[in-house]
Amino acid sequence: MVQAKSWSLTKHFDGFPSDANFELKVEDLPEPKDGEVLLEAKFLSVDPYMRPFSGVRMKEGDVMIGTQVAKVIQSKNNTFPVGTHVVARCGWRTHVVSNGTDLVHILPNWPEDVPLSLALGTIGMPGLTALYGIEEVLGLQEGETLLVNAAAGAVGNVVGQIAKIKGCKVVGSAGSDAKVAYLKELGFDEAFNYKTVGSLEQALKKASPEGYDCFFENVGGPFSTAALQQMKDFGRIAVCGGIATYNDKTPQMGPYPHLTMIFKQLKMEGFMHSRWEHKHPESLKRLMGWVKEGKLQSREHVTKGFENMPAAFMGMLRGENTGKAIVASL
Ligand SMILES: NC(=O)c1ccc[n+]([C@@H]2O[C@H](COP(=O)([O-])OP(=O)(O)OC[C@H]3O[C@@H](n4cnc5c(N)ncnc54)[C@H](OP(=O)(O)O)[C@@H]3O)[C@@H](O)[C@H]2O)c1
Repeated sequence: MVQAKSWSLTKHFDGFPSDANFELKVEDLPEPKDGEVLLEAKFLSVDPYMRPFSGVRMKEGDVMIGTQVAKVIQSKNNTFPVGTHVVARCGWRTHVVSNGTDLVHILPNWPEDVPLSLALGTIGMPGLTALYGIEEVLGLQEGETLLVNAAAGAVGNVVGQIAKIKGCKVVGSAGSDAKVAYLKELGFDEAFNYKTVGSLEQALKKASPEGYDCFFENVGGPFSTAALQQMKDFGRIAVCGGIATYNDKTPQMGPYPHLTMIFKQLKMEGFMHSRWEHKHPESLKRLMGWVKEGKLQSREHVTKGFENMPAAFMGMLRGENTGKAIVASL
């Protein structure tokens, strides 16, 4: 019998999360029955979406939603023999018994020199989000100028690097000088610290005086207002996220984008990576290919210990991570 730990949402978030929103529980798991497997978490993801999704997809008392890389440690299911690694959408848990329907095999022939944790980042959901935002939503073309915010994070750093692979000029913003230095290391043409520039308008103009063809939007709020004004006519905006708004107790009010959108004839499209689920296997292979060729670098912000899941989650929302925020379950 295995003792499983899990983190539950005791009370819906109201403003920025706190320790009081979470409770650690321990339970004995039954042996897997025919068709089932027992999973052990290796790496767990903490992601911004957990903050807004919890309000619409969870009840108080539910185990926190989330994805992990897990290893099959007992199996009565031939599709997932012992030792198999999977991506499991089973929430913040150290162990779980699954019938396999919610499990996805790690990409076949995963190279030994590529960490499995990248299946939660560059070669996982955030990498796919970056790829689909660029190719399916923006239709980014060689020679164009792209702006991305939260650029040193899991999605943003991949956005910038793919845009460079495609022969574009890339401008990124992030919340510390160390993150800005990281973006330069990755090959971003221009990068600035949005917290210290004083005027976002001036920083955006300085980075690309001719304006922006494409804007990969991760943040929302005042950054969005400033960025829209720097778009070129017929510019395209992929609305991926709005992390500057996720912890608001009351919705932020305007300025509203209508006149800017009308005068510049902008196109803005919200999207979720899941729209292109049918393309995931092929897309993951492309991301892996770029990683193996050295064209796509990855950094992870690793928190050790399942007990520290809430701290890792809140730290990510505060901007402590450069690259993908993950938890290594010890
Ligand atoms: N549509 C989809 O399918 C999809 C999928 C995945 C992610 N997303 C969205 O994409 C965005 C990035 O997600 P991620 O997983 O890559 O997270 P991430 O960028 O790795 O981590 C979140 C980052 O957001 C920044 N941040 C936090 N509060 C901010 C604020 N008030 N203003 C500006 N930046 C702030 C912080 O970096 P700084 O130090 O730079 O502030 C923090 O490191 C999120 O909005 C997320 O919801 C959407």
